[in-house]
Order: sequence, then structure tokens, then C-alpha cells
Amino acid sequence: MTYTKRPDGRKFDEPRKMEAKVGIIKRADGSAMFKMGDTIAIAAVYGPRELHPRFLQNPERGTLRCVYDMLSFSVPDRKRPGPSRRGTEISMVTENSLLSVVNLDQFPNAVVDVFINITQANAGTRCAGINAAVMALADAGIPMRDLVSAISVGKVGDKVVCDLDKDEEDYEEGSTDIPVAIVPRTGEVILLQLDGSIKKEELKEALKMAKKTCDDIYKIQKKALKKAYQEFQNE
Ligand code: CDP
Repeated sequence: MTYTKRPDGRKFDEPRKMEAKVGIIKRADGSAMFKMGDTIAIAAVYGPRELHPRFLQNPERGTLRCVYDMLSFSVPDRKRPGPSRRGTEISMVTENSLLSVVNLDQFPNAVVDVFINITQANAGTRCAGINAAVMALADAGIPMRDLVSAISVGKVGDKVVCDLDKDEEDYEEGSTDIPVAIVPRTGEVILLQLDGSIKKEELKEALKMAKKTCDDIYKIQKKALKKAYQEFQNE
């Protein structure tokens, strides 16, 4: 059961290569891309705009709506298009994570829509989606107390690892997948899901790994946002 080598040769605490870009969809009010190895997430934000039908409106503050979708040809076996239980669950956990930082008090009766599309999936898509969505919200100028950075950690065989890919998630001797989202400045954990089993000490080690990687993701997100606005200023 000793897990000695990762399929792509990474160290156990090493995430896949990451890339971020802000302002990729002109018609959206905010947009961003976040890539983690072969997993690619694109997020588009529309709003704040008046919410229809009107009975859904909240006169106290604006409403945030997230829709996560994995495109049919994002995976080797074509995924059936349209809503699914998995998509509904991921949309919900994404929305809840973003609600921890977004402040919509200034926008009563309005809605901010966030659409997340996974164009290529190789595990970790909910985390890549959250990373892209929060940058798209910042790009749309939505008030937020911080960004959110997310990464999946876990256990493959007997090793605690960072950023599992699909081969590792499917490891035949067993794997545990723990998507984690963190508010980087405070270190607050706002999403933690656990698929599999893990010992207390190993979970602590995995969370430490998540914290460290989220600090790096935060830097990448901030850099992409700054770059977009520098380009805007130079136009
Ligand atoms: O993507 P994430 O790890 O957040 O969620 P998951 O439900 O644990 O899915 C893990 C991976 O399984 C996805 O990233 C896809 O690569 C793959 N998958 C798939 O091939 N076909 C599906 N219908 C659903 C997921």
C-alpha cells in the first residue's frame, strides 16, 4: 500500500502548474480563467442587475446566484449535458463559499449571476471554479472583503498529497479527496468537503498543505487582477 511516486512525478505537497487570467469575456461584467494542470475553469459574472421575477427580490440586499457546469467534452467519456445532482451540489457549495466574502448590501432587489464552465476536467474542478469565480467577481467590481483561494488536498494510498488529479482520485488502493477553500488574509476555512476517510493527524497535515498552497494561489490571483487593470490603464 506504499504510494511511492505520483503519476506526473510531482512531489507529494506540490500542486499542478497553475495559470490565471482576468477579463477574458468582453460582454460579461467580469470574467476570469483559472487553470490547474489539465483542469480549466472559466467564470463569467453578469450584474448587479434587477432580479426577475420580482417575487425573488430581496429588498435588504442583492442576491448571488452561481451555476457550475462541466461541458460535455471536458472529460474523456462524454458527460450528459444539462443539470445533474453533482452540478447542483457544486453550484451550491461554490455559492456558499463566495457568499462568505461578497457584500451585496448596496444592491437591494438586484442579482449577481456567476456562471462557471469547466472546459476541461481532470479533477479539482470545483476548486478551479471557485478560484476563477472570485476573480471574475473582483473584475466586475463587486464589493468583497477578500478573495477566496481553493485547492483539493487528500490522501492517496498511504500519503497525504496536494492537488489530486483524476488518476490519483481513481487510485485503486483508495484515495481521499478534500476540497478546501480559504479566505487567505484570515486563514478562515470556508469550504471543506471530504470524500473518503482520513486520520486526524493526516487531516491536520493536509490542511496545512492546503493553507500553504492557497497562499500561492492568492498570489497568482492577485497578480492576474493587477495585470488586467494595468493593461486597462495603459489603453
Ligand atoms: O472536479 P471535482 O474534483 O471538484 O469533483 P468530483 O465530483 O470529485 O469529480 C472528479 C473528477 O471526475 C472531475 O474533475 C472529472 O475529471 C471527473 N468526472 C468525469 O469524468 N465525469 C463526470 N460525469 C464527473 C466527473
